[in-house]
Amino acid sequence: MNPVQSLLLALPPETAHNLAIGGLGAAHYLPGRVTPLTGAQRPFLGHNLHNPIGLAAGLDKDAQAVLGMARCGFGFVEVGTVTPLAQPGNPQPRLFRLPEHQALINRMGFNNQGMFAMAKRLDAVRNSGRLMSTLLGVNLGKNKDTPNADAASDYLKGMDCLHRYADYFTVNLSSPNTPGLRQLQHGETLHALLSNLKERQLALAGQGSGVPLLLKVAPDLERQEVEQIAAQAVACGFEGIIATNTTLAREAVAGHPHAGESGGLSGAPLTQRSAQVLAQFRSAVPKEFTLVGVGGISDGDDAQKMLKAGANALQIYTSFVYQGPKIVQ
Ligand SMILES: Cc1cc2nc3c(=O)[nH]c(=O)nc-3n(C[C@H](O)[C@H](O)[C@H](O)COP(=O)(O)O)c2cc1C
Repeated sequence: MNPVQSLLLALPPETAHNLAIGGLGAAHYLPGRVTPLTGAQRPFLGHNLHNPIGLAAGLDKDAQAVLGMARCGFGFVEVGTVTPLAQPGNPQPRLFRLPEHQALINRMGFNNQGMFAMAKRLDAVRNSGRLMSTLLGVNLGKNKDTPNADAASDYLKGMDCLHRYADYFTVNLSSPNTPGLRQLQHGETLHALLSNLKERQLALAGQGSGVPLLLKVAPDLERQEVEQIAAQAVACGFEGIIATNTTLAREAVAGHPHAGESGGLSGAPLTQRSAQVLAQFRSAVPKEFTLVGVGGISDGDDAQKMLKAGANALQIYTSFVYQGPKIVQ
């Protein structure tokens, strides 16, 4: 482990997080164009993805460090979750390390500066002309105070405000830390929401092809729920699914002093479950439908397994925290 990484891991988790974002954010002022590592190239949502490793949502919630993240070599970087209005998230402490398990538990609660602050930063990134072929995803959420019945309007506001900058949108219905959010993943509510967003995508696109829409799902789903969600996403014309977000399950970390913290568990304990859910989605969607695999990918083996399970591309978060930027390579 390099000295910077050791120092960060010796600090309280959120302090380390803020320092890392600050450091990577400073890369905005370094000269030069930024390109991804060249790996196994593939078509992805109408673009050419230079390598299949992406940064998962939640690390750069406010798009403060896009160029710095891109410099790490990612094929794609997903910013957010962003909500229409700025909100503080849950009280601290809300992020816990479980290094023995290479895992994190978080209940951040969509702390973010809101969509207008993000638009300003993404405008600067795009206008700099320095982000060459790293794809940029924007992960959308709803404000905590917006009732589920009005959830669609928050996602639509996000699309309206940010569609000029995004190579794809992720519709996040799977954070365990916004009360009731995961209920939107089901039944008629899901159908109505996805149809609404698809309609807006087409309206914003005019004659063009529109910003692809991906749905991000939880790992805590029964097989039947997976099949229902897959059918709805396909029927509503979504372009892909990201599986998975963090889990509420704690069996894998039972007995750890932080195991009882509420929130979502990420990292190594999620590897098998996320790959299993991804494989279930793969068998429930058409061949050309895009699937992004995320959850506990910590090395090349995990990455290969997720690709074998049927993923077109991958994302990482927790292993990046523990191993630092070299993991992208
Ligand atoms: C501290 C933290 C914050 C996160 N915030 C978000 C978020 O805002 N939106 C989102 O869709 N996922 C969020 N996630 C979930 C990750 O994007 C990812 O789906 C999950 O952590 C599993 O991947 P991993 O095991 O590689 O970390 C967050 C994860 C962590 C650890």
